[in-house]
Amino acid sequence: MKIFVNDKALEVSGQRVLIEELREAGYDIPSLCYAPDAGHEASCMVCMVRNEADNQMIPSCATYPVEGMRLDVDSDEVTALRRMSVELLLSDHRARCGACEGRTKCRLRELSVKMKAKWTRYGPLAPVDTKEAVHVTGRLFFEAAKCIRCGLCVYNSRNGFTFKGRGFGMEVVIPEDNKKNINEKIADLCPTGALFLRQLHHDE
Ligand code: SF4
Ligand code: SF4
Ligand code: FES
Repeated sequence: MKIFVNDKALEVSGQRVLIEELREAGYDIPSLCYAPDAGHEASCMVCMVRNEADNQMIPSCATYPVEGMRLDVDSDEVTALRRMSVELLLSDHRARCGACEGRTKCRLRELSVKMKAKWTRYGPLAPVDTKEAVHVTGRLFFEAAKCIRCGLCVYNSRNGFTFKGRGFGMEVVIPEDNKKNINEKIADLCPTGALFLRQLHHDE
């Protein structure tokens, strides 16, 4: 089927979500709560594009193309909305990058730099009290203050991570009995430094 992206025609299969079609066509669409072939629920809103038919912003990670669809994927308006989404996440991010063990793989940090997002409350270098990282299994550790509650670890670990509470108070937790069900590889899915692999002494 044919859709239009920034007024240019694009042939798409219609079988894949927009983010996949757009990335394959060379458009740089950011994402945090989405990973290819993984279970997810749209929550971060950094992948937004504008549907010109009704002027609505839509999450490209959770929307399939429709014949004739017209999209704006990188106007100033779209870019500003994505930046605002990142800033919203940073406003509740009780952590600093300099001392973060997961910083080398952190897409939130990468995006915040690339988008020139403001750290309104804490700042990447501000001293912040955070709890110790919790040991999950093997080399895998979890630091709740760095979690953006994207849910990727919840939706992709069977009887592993889970949500506790609702709304703004919602947090990701790991019931003690569930730790045995978790694989270290889940760290690769986490878009922040909340889940990271720590080098253990006997590895060195
Ligand atoms: S998780 Fe990412 S954004 Fe947060 S402190 Fe670590 S490197 Fe910085
Ligand atoms: S630990 Fe990572 S993957 Fe899990 S919800 Fe938090 S940010 Fe997302
Ligand atoms: S990547 Fe689409 S809503 Fe998060």
